[in-house]
Amino acid sequence: MVGTGYVGLVSGACFADFGHEVWCVDINAERIDQLERGEIPFYEPGLSALVSRNHASGRLHFTTDLAAGVAPADVVMIAVQTPPMENGEADLRFVMQVARDVGELLLPNQYKVVCTKSTVPVGTAREVKKILTEAAPEGAAYDVASNPEFLREGSSIEDFMRPDRVVIGTETPRAAELMQSLYRPVYLLHTPIVTTDLESSELIKYAANAYLAVKISYINEMSDLCEKLGAQVDVVARAMGLDGRIGPKFLHAGLGFGGSCLPKDTKAIVQMGEQVGVPMRLIRGAIEINDGRATGAIQKLEALLGSLEGKRIALLGLAFKPNTDDVREAPALRLVPMLRERGATVVACDPEATETFRQFFPDLEIASDPYAAAEGADGLLLVTEWNPYRELDLARLQDALNEAVFVDCRNVYSPKRMRELGFRYDSFGR
Ligand code: UDX
Repeated sequence: MVGTGYVGLVSGACFADFGHEVWCVDINAERIDQLERGEIPFYEPGLSALVSRNHASGRLHFTTDLAAGVAPADVVMIAVQTPPMENGEADLRFVMQVARDVGELLLPNQYKVVCTKSTVPVGTAREVKKILTEAAPEGAAYDVASNPEFLREGSSIEDFMRPDRVVIGTETPRAAELMQSLYRPVYLLHTPIVTTDLESSELIKYAANAYLAVKISYINEMSDLCEKLGAQVDVVARAMGLDGRIGPKFLHAGLGFGGSCLPKDTKAIVQMGEQVGVPMRLIRGAIEINDGRATGAIQKLEALLGSLEGKRIALLGLAFKPNTDDVREAPALRLVPMLRERGATVVACDPEATETFRQFFPDLEIASDPYAAAEGADGLLLVTEWNPYRELDLARLQDALNEAVFVDCRNVYSPKRMRELGFRYDSFGR
């Protein structure tokens, strides 16, 4: 497993737990030392125990030496970062460099599959194959494969162990068989394994993520319509979701989607479409709707509080969603500057993400918990629906607040109850 970022480390540890022998390779020596000591560089529930257990059992190794990892491997997975460039395209330099380095290590009579695990644009596996052909010695035995990852942050281990499906793209039956054998434990759980060509496999990942983004933006725009027409978006969503063709998931209205995947993958698929003359209108619309959500939350706050000039505003939650310390594309990253531009001071709390968030706003005032954040604040925004923020002591919160103004950006609380308690309260689409 080349790359010990989120996908690489979680996948490596889970494959080891399946009983495979895994070498996690990274050029970052500090990261490898950390992992050797059992330290996990990011917050993910259950990962620390999984890594320790498999490291101790001798099935999970960490090394900076690519050759040491590649030599004994049947499958080499490329799970390095693919950061977005200015124009939204994924930067594939790291993937291609690894492909070149791996190619030089391939040998005749030692068949290996070289597989992309990072989310990469359609055509990347074929490009990797070209590079391998250039770099590999005469007669080297290998195939390429694509095996996209569908992990959700915060529940990635469960997602890996019990996936809805596994997607494998290959060009030869031999590669397909070897790749399938990696997933034998989930196959035994009757998990569908979709084997297909390289391009379809690569596109499936984008198509799925973009669809989820469209679903979220759909219900968010519907929530705007609910507000104007006097309907309740949560009831609308529930009844829609009861239609088996629609399904109940990803119909929760609020601040919209953030994170490392949905924003990046929607932009990338639009870019891919543009390059081949397909306009991807639905996905563009989903991005546009999502971009307006933070502004919508600020407008709600202003409607309840008037001008924000000189006001103190508390944000509950900084992570892009609960159970992660990841703040990439988190709505809070947009909210803080918007509030400050309007003359407000901001205080925030989060159970895990204050450190990561502070990298972007080193001067942000951090409170230890929601009540400390609310102390003396003129208004509060519930930004991330962490469990502790779903069961707040509302009387205590009201006492702490200077003005009982509450914008519930994740539709956690009952509007009726909040108003009965004396809050000036708003949420999305209710
Ligand atoms: C997502 C995909 O689910 C996963 O399959 C893929 O591998 C990576 O991208 P992740 O980014 O970890 O996973 O988060 P996810 O749980 O999917 O949530 C994405 C965003 O949508 C979050 O910001 C969440 O708050 C938001 N969301 C989700 C909504 O606003 N409403 C919903 O109904 C669901």
